[in-house]
Amino acid sequence: MFDGIAPYYDFLNGLLSVGIDTIWRRKTIKQLNKNDHRHVLDIATGTADLAIEAEKQLKCERIVGLDISNQMLEIGRKKVAKKSLSDVIELVVGDSENLNFETGSFDAVTAAFGVRNFGNLEKGLSEMHRVLRNQGKIVILEFSKPRIFPFKQLYNTYFKYVLPVIGKVTSKDPKAYKYLYESVQSFPDYENFEQVLQKIGFKNTSWTSLSLGICTIYQGTK
Ligand SMILES: C[S@@+](CC[C@H](N)C(=O)[O-])C[C@H]1O[C@@H](n2cnc3c(N)ncnc32)[C@H](O)[C@@H]1O
Repeated sequence: MFDGIAPYYDFLNGLLSVGIDTIWRRKTIKQLNKNDHRHVLDIATGTADLAIEAEKQLKCERIVGLDISNQMLEIGRKKVAKKSLSDVIELVVGDSENLNFETGSFDAVTAAFGVRNFGNLEKGLSEMHRVLRNQGKIVILEFSKPRIFPFKQLYNTYFKYVLPVIGKVTSKDPKAYKYLYESVQSFPDYENFEQVLQKIGFKNTSWTSLSLGICTIYQGTK
């Protein structure tokens, strides 16, 4: 599915979130520390926006962006090359549920709007835990379901009925943005996702909701 919508993905991200997605990613990387997090793995990196933001804020030695969709990565590679960041950011095809990296090889592992798509959430998170060094940090940005009245009702109407129509017309994929709504509904959010992180073995977990609960940043350490 992501191969198919790759050419429209960045445009639709900006349109459907009215540009706030860049602020969400910026806040996600702000959870990391310039000196402690030199080697970063960005899971489900897509078109590499979070990896690029990590380079901007942290000036890392090495950032690996991994994604299962080569079409998404191709767009990311063009952006990385245009910013002359190919020496720092490497974009590789891979499945987050079976990572081809040694145990303890990264200082931080990040993911933006990625973990919701895992076929097996706990397996993917366990792999993220495995490749982190001890005391390494995980930071995850993911959609959540707003809880505050009346924003919850207004947003739900937009998300369920308006957004899939804009997505369908623009991306020419009738299913992609319907899938977005459905996947967010079935995904564990807030304290429920924090519990999943703890079950996997992450410590010092916490979450911070953004934009009245549209998204949430989760973090923890190994
Ligand atoms: C909504 S996009 C997010 C892209 C990017 N992180 C961002 O912030 O815009 C979700 C990405 O997850 C990737 N993905 C889904 N399942 C995956 C898996 N099992 N392993 C690696 N990537 C996966 C998709 O190919 C897609 O590029």
